[in-house]
Amino acid sequence: MSKVTVIGAGNVGATVANVLASKDFIKEIILLDIPVKKEFAQGKALDTWQQAPIDYYGTTIVGTDDYAATAGSDVVVITAGLPRKPGMSRDDLISVNAGIVTSVTENVVKYSPNTIIIVVSNPLDVMTYAALKKSGFPANRVMGMAGILDTARYRAFLATELGVSPKDIQAILMGGHGDTMVPLPRYTTVGGIPVTELISEEKLDAIIARTKDGGAELGRLIGTSAWYAPGAAAAQMVEAIVKDEPRVFPVCAYLTGQYGIKDLCVGVPVVLGKNGIEKIFELKLKKEEKELLKASAAAVSNMVEAFKNLKLA
Ligand code: NAI
Ligand code: 2OP
Repeated sequence: MSKVTVIGAGNVGATVANVLASKDFIKEIILLDIPVKKEFAQGKALDTWQQAPIDYYGTTIVGTDDYAATAGSDVVVITAGLPRKPGMSRDDLISVNAGIVTSVTENVVKYSPNTIIIVVSNPLDVMTYAALKKSGFPANRVMGMAGILDTARYRAFLATELGVSPKDIQAILMGGHGDTMVPLPRYTTVGGIPVTELISEEKLDAIIARTKDGGAELGRLIGTSAWYAPGAAAAQMVEAIVKDEPRVFPVCAYLTGQYGIKDLCVGVPVVLGKNGIEKIFELKLKKEEKELLKASAAAVSNMVEAFKNLKLA
């Protein structure tokens, strides 16, 4: 039984904690927010604990603003940070959230030097890089959540279009978390059948375009960014690690030359287990797929340069 900390008790953080608690495989969850939101974190934790007798789980959950309570965490999920607001440039968001993510990481590492970190804060690929550099951890112990969410959106749209259960759709998207993400239709199957045999190219292209816009679509509908699917996606990564399942997921991972990409965190297929990223799969991409991944990595690289200029890690 394990201890998991979730930093940020907002929409995504509280959902990660709630989903994890209801799965009943963790001993203790710590939900931490800033001092002015300490009571909010305590309230979210108490609400989740009061759900336990209804949904039959024994995971205890504590809300706090004190990092000492996080000591010895096996996994830490970082959701602290602002969502992008109207009028805010991408660089503005990088500078605000990089300040938050690096200071959070410093505190996390101080109390849990052996933990595995999963970053959710946006812009995801650069915040994962920031946490990795600030932590000084080996690359297998710092990763970002985006690929499971983006792939889930794609799978959900396909399920609706084909009138089948989303359970039967397997797929993978690679690259950065944003409009340069790289869909790979030839790795998409429906009950083992290649999706290209079941759907026209036009319809598939429309689904891919909607997937790329998936976060923005939810933003337009809800008025802020999504949290149910993002929270469930981060919880699924925690589960794979704590249970040492091991699972194959698209995860934002530090690359050291795989796919021709170096010193960047980008979404790739990995095996997740007790050591975090146990393995990165290197697919034999076609020329056009490689080009798309290269373009996506270039977009991430631009944001990483903006982060480096801040000299926070
Ligand atoms: P939210 O505003 O509901 O919650 C963020 C929480 O972080 C707030 O409670 C805030 O007080 C807390 N926080 C801020 N600074 C902190 C610090 N220094 N230490 C501890 N806590 C701190 O936002 P939401 O919707 O939960 O989103 C959180 C982040 O996740 C955003 O950056 C958002 O863009 C990102 N996100 C990423 C996704 C992905 O696929 N990677 C999907 C959805 C959201
Ligand atoms: C999402 O994709 C905004 O990253 C957030 O929902």
